Amino acid sequence: MTHPALEPEIRPATPADEADISLVTATAFGDEAEARLVRELRSCGVLVLERVAVDRDGRLVGHIAFSRVTGAGAGHRLSITCLAPVSVSPDRQRGGVGSALIRAGLEALREQGEDLVLVLGHPDYYPRFGFDAKLAQKVSGPYAGAAFQALALRDEVVAALPIEVTFATPFQVFE
Ligand SMILES: CC(C)(COP(=O)(O)OP(=O)(O)OC[C@H]1O[C@@H](n2cnc3c(N)ncnc32)[C@H](O)[C@@H]1OP(=O)(O)O)[C@@H](O)C(=O)NCCC(=O)NCCS
Repeated sequence: MTHPALEPEIRPATPADEADISLVTATAFGDEAEARLVRELRSCGVLVLERVAVDRDGRLVGHIAFSRVTGAGAGHRLSITCLAPVSVSPDRQRGGVGSALIRAGLEALREQGEDLVLVLGHPDYYPRFGFDAKLAQKVSGPYAGAAFQALALRDEVVAALPIEVTFATPFQVFE
């Protein structure tokens, strides 16, 4: 658990955060690919929501992005996003920052009227936020398997499935 005095503020990202977001993303993953993905999603205009975690001393220690996913088929009217990537500075990992970013992001998406969130991530981590690999079996696209998980933000969404989805173009290098 994070000590309350160390709990970061979770707030929307601003253009002034962009360099720090690239840095946190690259150091969290130990690779430039995900930082590039964030920049490309931003320049394509497909980011639906971004949040940053900022320490009390002003240091940006985490970031999360949700981008637009296009649906076709029975549930084509659903508003769908993809959670990726989420990054926490290595020295602040396993202290609750990632969980705080994910919970705040999902809450904001729910308030914005979004319907469904998809993630390709660790099957031990995302179920605690409500993500479900079984629900994702009703979502066909480039990803499948235990890591591909879905979260319905409203009860009625499940009845609108199945659906076929296409992720934003910058994801193609990960497919
Ligand atoms: C994954 C990540 C965002 C989680 O954020 P965090 O602040 O470290 O996580 P929290 O403190 O909120 O949650 C801790 C839990 O996450 C789990 N966890 C952390 N990283 C994990 C990983 N790579 N795989 C599986 N579980 C992980 C821990 O086991 C811990 O579980 P527990 O509470 O049951 O012990 C962060 O570790 C990170 O930036 N990792 C590198 C980049 C990455 O892999 N991003 C996710 C893929 S998009």
